[in-house]
Amino acid sequence: MTEVQRSGTGSGPEIENLLAESRAFPPDPAFAAQANATAELYEEAAADPVAFWERRAREKLTWTRPFERTLEWDLPFAKWFVGGQLNVAYDCVDRHVEAGLGDKVAYHWIGEPGDRRTLTFADLQREVSKAANALRELGVQTGDRVAIYMPMIPELPIAMLACARIGAPHTVVFGGFSAEALAGRINDAQAKLLITADGGWRRGKAVDLKSAADEALRDTPTIERVLVVRRVGGAVASSMAAGRDVWWHELVERQPPECLPVPVDSEHLLYLLYTSGTTAKPKGIVHTSAGYLLGTSVTHEMIFDAKPDDVYWCAADIGWVTGHSYIVYGPLANGTTGVLYEGAPDTPDWDRWWQIVEELGVTILYTAPTAIRAFMKQGDALPAKHDLSSLRVLGSVGEPINPEAWLWYQRNIGGGRCPVVDTWWQTETGMILITPLPGVTTTKPGSATSPFPGIDADVVDGEGRPVPLGEGGYLVLRRPWPAMLRGIYGDPDRYRETYWSRFPGMYFAGDGARRDEDGYFWLLGRVDDVMNVAGHRISTIEVESALVGHPSVAEAAVVGKTDPVSGQAIFAFVTIRVGVESADALGRELREHVGRAIGPIARPKYLLFTPDLPKTRSGKIVRRLLRDVAEGAPLGDTTTLADPASWRPSAPVPPELRKNEPAIGLSRIGWMRRSDP
Ligand code: WT7
Repeated sequence: MTEVQRSGTGSGPEIENLLAESRAFPPDPAFAAQANATAELYEEAAADPVAFWERRAREKLTWTRPFERTLEWDLPFAKWFVGGQLNVAYDCVDRHVEAGLGDKVAYHWIGEPGDRRTLTFADLQREVSKAANALRELGVQTGDRVAIYMPMIPELPIAMLACARIGAPHTVVFGGFSAEALAGRINDAQAKLLITADGGWRRGKAVDLKSAADEALRDTPTIERVLVVRRVGGAVASSMAAGRDVWWHELVERQPPECLPVPVDSEHLLYLLYTSGTTAKPKGIVHTSAGYLLGTSVTHEMIFDAKPDDVYWCAADIGWVTGHSYIVYGPLANGTTGVLYEGAPDTPDWDRWWQIVEELGVTILYTAPTAIRAFMKQGDALPAKHDLSSLRVLGSVGEPINPEAWLWYQRNIGGGRCPVVDTWWQTETGMILITPLPGVTTTKPGSATSPFPGIDADVVDGEGRPVPLGEGGYLVLRRPWPAMLRGIYGDPDRYRETYWSRFPGMYFAGDGARRDEDGYFWLLGRVDDVMNVAGHRISTIEVESALVGHPSVAEAAVVGKTDPVSGQAIFAFVTIRVGVESADALGRELREHVGRAIGPIARPKYLLFTPDLPKTRSGKIVRRLLRDVAEGAPLGDTTTLADPASWRPSAPVPPELRKNEPAIGLSRIGWMRRSDP
């Protein structure tokens, strides 16, 4: 196997065992007989991948002006369906109402406290139109950027669709991000309006979003107005800035219920979504209109086997790309009934999800390995208490799924009868790219199986040469696909450099992968300085720069440590300034400091005060050794260190950090002294 750093979870001995065992789940003939996907899709796409997408673009999307050219590929810049015009909100909402589906449920929404709302497609059309009119009244025009910082409430997809209706690109910032993170994104996008809420419910508490928004807005000169949804009422003390802030229920409710969708070019900017890369500054990933809508809707239909009567639940937060593509745009374009749940999976109890599945008759469930492992930890009894027999397809996304979790999901949630689709993709890819097709693919627990029809994925060695089957290397994509990112906002050079320079002519995803003897893809995790914590991408450098921003910190280095629930946990090595004392209190403070700078998800679970960091003679931190310490593994080669003596080959994790407890958010703080063995 080519030397590839593995940073993911579940890609170790279990997978090797399973490869040896070669457990496989062939499609159930009864499922296959009714499946949306067929084996012919692969042949059709292989014969002419551009024609494959062209045909579907004509069938699935509503063109106010037909496109002239399917693809313009000026590597690495792609344009799809050039010359065409359409409106994304029209295709997600109005089209279904016009087809007589106005009374069909678009979203079943459940608030964490138990309150509910049901929105039909006709409701959605009315609410989106009113919100779009409100945006106009607030001065938003086609092309203006709108930032959205909201909990999982119906106004979130309504706000996104209202933007799409008038051609104003949105940038949704996950409600768990800090004020500072919000301000950075608003400023990079130069957003004119912020849509937010007073708060949201999470684990029985009101999360105060408005105060965080207010803090962010001290430093965001482009924001003119703020539209605020009242969600938690008096539970947080939100103040409204006169002349700037306006309540949603006052402004939106009085708008006329009609608003003509604005036709935009296929390549019109639909949204920006910020994601962590290998630097401290998150990248604004650019997604445009027609290709994105096509890619997400075709994959949604085929991979989840979405049918008119399905009740589909993607349990992600809309603030991440999974929610954009598979809660909002893909499923709505297909006229699918979806579920939106505001709160945490353990509130009031760890069977909240199973209650929802039973009550709403959920047929398709899409979630992340970290959630599956957290449920697994709670035991088999909780799902067994509920009737989950409505389920017929299960999906997984966000990180490598370890075979045990795959099998537990398949048996305990899917009752052994549902196909499990492990779907690989990224914020950048916009749509699922490597995945089984239910009813077609024989699955193997832990493998994302094969590229979607029309997708040319490969695993290459360090020189860009395809590795033989059975070996590992770097995952690359060789051909453009309709929902691919069009760039990094405002930075074409960084786009080229980040994705297209490592292997000329190929998109480098940043993931390691191997293909088995049958050609199946097994994802091995990131090969760059990006961690995957509970399915969320966090850059080591972002956390390091937050840490060194604290006055007590001289230097910091961060690595991902394998974690049984969250996949990886953040492990920070910190050297403090002379004269500062290392203590538990300082460790806790540093953790909170990172939470304030980035968001609670970025708080290090492990923090180790250390007098030195292992560095090469040229001053580069040797993360490999830090990873060894974090994992409790014997230290690798230390001969390249400037001062090998300070990093002894046997340096273990101090005992206080050695316990690998699966509780998310539990922090451990330790000290390493120069004299530690
Ligand atoms: C990274 C992308 C795509 C939505 C959620 C994350 C990892 C994603 C899988 C999978 C193994 C996966 C990769 C990828 N990843 N899905 N099925 N198997 N790894 O989006 O934040 O852009 O992260 O998540 O490492 O590069 P994201």
